[in-house]
Amino acid sequence: MIPVEALRVVGGSRLSGEVAVTGAKNSVLKLMAAALLAPGRTVLSDVPEILDVEIMAELLRRLGCHVVHDCAAGTVAIDVPEALEHRADYDLVRRMRASITVLGPLLARCGVVDVALPGGDNIGSRGLDMHIGGLQRMGAEVTSEHGYLIARAGSGLHGATVWLDFPSVGATETLLMAAVTARGRTVIDNAAREPEIVDICTMLVEMGASIDGVGTSTLEIEGVESLAPVAHATVADRIVAGTWAVAAAITRGDITVRRAQPAHLEIALDKLVTAGASVTTLDDGFRVVMEARPRAVDIVTLPYPGFPTDLQPQFIALNAIADGAALVTENLFEARFRFVHELVRLGADVQTEGHHALVRGREALSGAPVEATDIRAGAGLVLAGLVADGETTVHEVHHIDRGYAGFVDDLQRLGADISRIDLPG
Ligand code: EPU
Repeated sequence: MIPVEALRVVGGSRLSGEVAVTGAKNSVLKLMAAALLAPGRTVLSDVPEILDVEIMAELLRRLGCHVVHDCAAGTVAIDVPEALEHRADYDLVRRMRASITVLGPLLARCGVVDVALPGGDNIGSRGLDMHIGGLQRMGAEVTSEHGYLIARAGSGLHGATVWLDFPSVGATETLLMAAVTARGRTVIDNAAREPEIVDICTMLVEMGASIDGVGTSTLEIEGVESLAPVAHATVADRIVAGTWAVAAAITRGDITVRRAQPAHLEIALDKLVTAGASVTTLDDGFRVVMEARPRAVDIVTLPYPGFPTDLQPQFIALNAIADGAALVTENLFEARFRFVHELVRLGADVQTEGHHALVRGREALSGAPVEATDIRAGAGLVLAGLVADGETTVHEVHHIDRGYAGFVDDLQRLGADISRIDLPG
């Protein structure tokens, strides 16, 4: 039997101290894909040491790039050749859905791209219809064969006006990267406005792209002939920062989060104030202090600047031990409530009905073995374990490793009783 790793958490510690966040997973993966648009060397800094960066590096290597991830320096250097391969294989897409981010840049560079269809994943069906519809408007022919999405634009892409049904992060990124070197003007209406979208727009503009309306829901892109590689620092990870904020609140602790941008977390931090925390904004981050039992807070997830779905499980964990009852509404990923079944194993009182969850706060949770069903569910379960009585073992820890660099070390430094353990496979 090959041992599998799990996290062992013993609840009861009040977390206090300082922690620094690195660049955002959900930005750096897209910045790595954007590098494909310009032959030559792109250097990204503030790169987190997480599994998904390794998977994206492997994908870029298979496309013909030379990629060096210097973990100590937090950089990734990508040497992009003139001639690229144009296939993203199933074994990588299956491991990391964000692999489909290469769709736009490869189509723009090669005029053809084959990307394995990601299929369903642990947080829902996650369609590609808006990616495909937008590329078709820009002149691509898109088919699906043998589990691969194949897009062709033999005579190049042209500008178009695209209205997204929903401000999809992924579709906005695909169309943006396809549009920057397309012939003419592209307008993406109802575009996503997440800080990670602003980050990729900023890098594309540094590379020579012409984009108006950055940070708004209408992006206007005037295609340029070619782009040049640049050095770019990744925007701070607001979801990791938000997870630390909840860690302070749930353990009645005192955590200062450095290298974070509180402006990217306004609603989440405001919810913590409603829950009874004191939140102070600092020059390079923020501090969250919680003295008493948190009060329950209602949550409705929405595209940015609404409350982020990627902090929903952490806030359900907080509500599970809060004073009162809270209604949590999930509007982005229908299957994200799967993690509730695990939280209930810790004694939480949560009822789900469609995309609503009613959480009745309990005085205490009780440690038990649980399973992380995705990255954020994993974070939510660790937070719950920090306040559960006795020992909680979080299985499927690889999910957490996909998104949280040095999580266990940071938790230990803040005073948590947590360690990685090997269990029989
Ligand atoms: N959708 C469609 N059709 C499309 C595109 C999206 O129906 O063509 C639907 C999806 O099924 C989903 C919703 O729209 O229900 C949101 O999808 P979106 O495209 O906005 O999200 P994404 O690009 O797939 C990124 C992050 C997620 C984050 C969401 C929302 C990455 C790699 N992933 O996903 O992050 O939750 O935006 O902010 O950037 C995570 O980090 O744990 C994570 C899941």
